[in-house]
Amino acid sequence: MADVTLTVDGKKITAPAGTLLLEACKSAGIEIPAFCYYPGLSLQAACRMCVVRIEKMPKLQTACTTPVAEGMVVTSESPEIAQARKATLQLLLGNHPLDCPVCDAGGECELQDMTFKYGAADSFYAEPKDHREEQKWSPVVYFDRPRCILCYRCVRMCGEGMDVFALGIQNRGSSSVIAPNVPAQMSPDDLAHVDCEQCGMCIDACPVGALTSGTYRYKTRPWEMNHVSTICTHCGDGCKTTLGVRSTTDGSEIVRGDNRDKSGINVDFLCNKGRYAFDFANNEDRITQPLVRQPNGEMKPVSWEVALDHVGKRLRELRDTRGGKSIGVIGSNRTTNEEAYLLQKFARTVLGTNNIDHHRTADYVAFARALAGTTDRTASLKDTLTAPAIMILGGDPTIQAPATAWNIRTNVRNNRARLYIANSAEIKLRRQAKAFAHIAPFSYGALASFIAGDDSAVDALTHSGADASSFHEFRKAIRAEESLLVLLGSEFRDADLQRLLAFGKTLPNRKFALISDYVNSRGAADMGLLPDLLPGYTPLAGNTTFAEYNTPTTPGLDLLEMFEAAGRGELSALYVVGTNPVSRYSVDPASLKDTFVVVQDMFLTETAAVADVILPASNLYEKSGSVTNSYGDLQLVNKAGDRAGVRSDFELIVRIADKMGANMKVLVPFGKGTRADMGQSRGAQSGEADRHAVWLSANNMEPKLSPFDPFAILDEIQRLVPGYNLLRLQLLSGNDQHLQPAVTVTDLVQISKRRDLVLPANDTLFTSGTLGRYSAMLSDLQHNESLRPPTGLTQIQTAAD
Ligand code: SF4
Ligand code: SF4
Ligand code: SF4
Ligand code: FES
Repeated sequence: MADVTLTVDGKKITAPAGTLLLEACKSAGIEIPAFCYYPGLSLQAACRMCVVRIEKMPKLQTACTTPVAEGMVVTSESPEIAQARKATLQLLLGNHPLDCPVCDAGGECELQDMTFKYGAADSFYAEPKDHREEQKWSPVVYFDRPRCILCYRCVRMCGEGMDVFALGIQNRGSSSVIAPNVPAQMSPDDLAHVDCEQCGMCIDACPVGALTSGTYRYKTRPWEMNHVSTICTHCGDGCKTTLGVRSTTDGSEIVRGDNRDKSGINVDFLCNKGRYAFDFANNEDRITQPLVRQPNGEMKPVSWEVALDHVGKRLRELRDTRGGKSIGVIGSNRTTNEEAYLLQKFARTVLGTNNIDHHRTADYVAFARALAGTTDRTASLKDTLTAPAIMILGGDPTIQAPATAWNIRTNVRNNRARLYIANSAEIKLRRQAKAFAHIAPFSYGALASFIAGDDSAVDALTHSGADASSFHEFRKAIRAEESLLVLLGSEFRDADLQRLLAFGKTLPNRKFALISDYVNSRGAADMGLLPDLLPGYTPLAGNTTFAEYNTPTTPGLDLLEMFEAAGRGELSALYVVGTNPVSRYSVDPASLKDTFVVVQDMFLTETAAVADVILPASNLYEKSGSVTNSYGDLQLVNKAGDRAGVRSDFELIVRIADKMGANMKVLVPFGKGTRADMGQSRGAQSGEADRHAVWLSANNMEPKLSPFDPFAILDEIQRLVPGYNLLRLQLLSGNDQHLQPAVTVTDLVQISKRRDLVLPANDTLFTSGTLGRYSAMLSDLQHNESLRPPTGLTQIQTAAD
């Protein structure tokens, strides 16, 4: 839209025609107070805090509902406006409890800020306060009615933003009250509740302390925490989150997950896992001392030195006597890229084995192979906010990738994006869809063929008795789109995925993304935690990229083959880093009885229970590095929490390699940075870059003086891994960057022999693999869900099949 020019407080500003005056002012650095306005939600004009004087208009006008116009002359601050805003505040404070000293929002409250600014210290309204008890609407949502200023942000957030509609308004006028969707009379415990997705977005949007969070309330104050910007450890979207951290006697504890930093790929969204499920880190079952199995079978706590010596010595012995090919390594989709890369390098160059794998939640090998040699064919998560047309085939983003679902809803609502969905389940996003193709169960292969042009596949797609013509309409509509963003669920694998992508590539302006389940599922595959491919999906044999590695050239055992080999007594050792394959793949623990098993983990998982050595490891919130989300967006992970007695997976791999006598300078090329100003870095606060790190990097003086510094290996990733020619300053500044497809060769010889090892995690909104079992808040939410009366008010648990 064409720009218009207007004058605000004597300053000329320009903004696209149609922009709201409040937004135009914000862009020009002029702040207009607003309680009921929330960007992207419908306009309410309920609070009158944003009033401004517009020349030639008789009364003060609300800036949140007035579009800019050419030649408009606006006054945003004057004694008249200040008086109007003060009067509004006095009215709001008439029945406000004024309990700022104990209110969770104290120090971050928009009402408090405005009261200070406009000096509404006295009031004409002196009625007795109408006290109401705080209500617990769910384990994570609490409501303090007297604090509510009736801005209706929460109602709109839940309805428009989340498409849940769990909150509404009861009564009228001064008796209006926010009410949840399960009233006391419908509830088994006679108390009102919310039947909803428990995302906490309503709490985030609340400008005051009327809605508070079950994890944070009454715990601490904002100024008592450090605010660390990092990446959520749960799903494959990889949302940017701000963790509130405070010191404890044995480290530092995360007390709040928040989205103060709205600069990320998730913009203003966090789901319940990102917001609340950090508490696994504080779980008292956490292992904080190395354990070694004794000859009598008992696990005994030992010192780090003893444990690492034992692991190094034993692995070296087994490698030298039974050969590296008798050793297996299983990595994680929740460790950083640097850790995943180092692990495969350790396996291949120190242990001498290609027996390395991880729990695959999507077929990234087939994806990379199909898109090899293309540019601009992969979508970033940000694209879901702006693409004019989106098609989702398989999967269920609402549950599996909630930020993706949020972005799509926002895009449909605000930009009228056209959404097309084909799924065998009636997933919730179909409510935003222009067309929904309900396909028969297990017919994703037929769907790939049909979309690629095979009309005969339509029969397999169609439920018995259903009309097949709707599929033809659906295909016609998506083909008619000039550009289309295609999101694929993990149902598409191997030949189906390649057929679909091969066809998609023939059409212009099609971009693709393959949705997986965990924060670094994509990174784990990109970094080569695979038995048949090196990092960047590089073939083992005949490549020159990794020539300096001197790796074995024959493919190793995949994850299941390793357990089969163990059962036959052919696997001498198994090194498991941050994953729980025994539970995930229902492995018989007895099959590992002749295998020396080393496990790095936080908890005594089913896999750790059969280990000979357990090394207590830190989680993603307790380390630095980078991760790559499902879309190929690379982001920086910053260390927030800490726990005495645990070490990062990176450090542990390095220490084991050292104990085995490996050349540290070859394994981790550390020490190449210049010795620079080593003063303490300020640490990235919310929304800020770590300026010290950025400056050092800009001057090529990053200190990489220790083999435990993950950035020492980032150089090598950047240098060797196809597709990871990243921009360091972007990464260190906390900005996401989208990486193009990794693979550069089309002929990946080993791929033809691969078997389908993709195993979707099938998490619900309230589970998160093994990690979720140790999150008290997720357990509470699951329990809460099980108590839910069968109202059918919201659709939460429709998992894709
Ligand atoms: S927590 Fe529940 S009520 Fe609040 S916005 Fe999310 S879905 Fe709606
Ligand atoms: S609870 Fe908060 S967000 Fe909802 S209407 Fe009241 S003040 Fe506004
Ligand atoms: S959408 Fe995914 S990455 Fe974002 S907060 Fe939720 S679980 Fe974390
Ligand atoms: S922000 Fe404009 S009326 Fe509330």
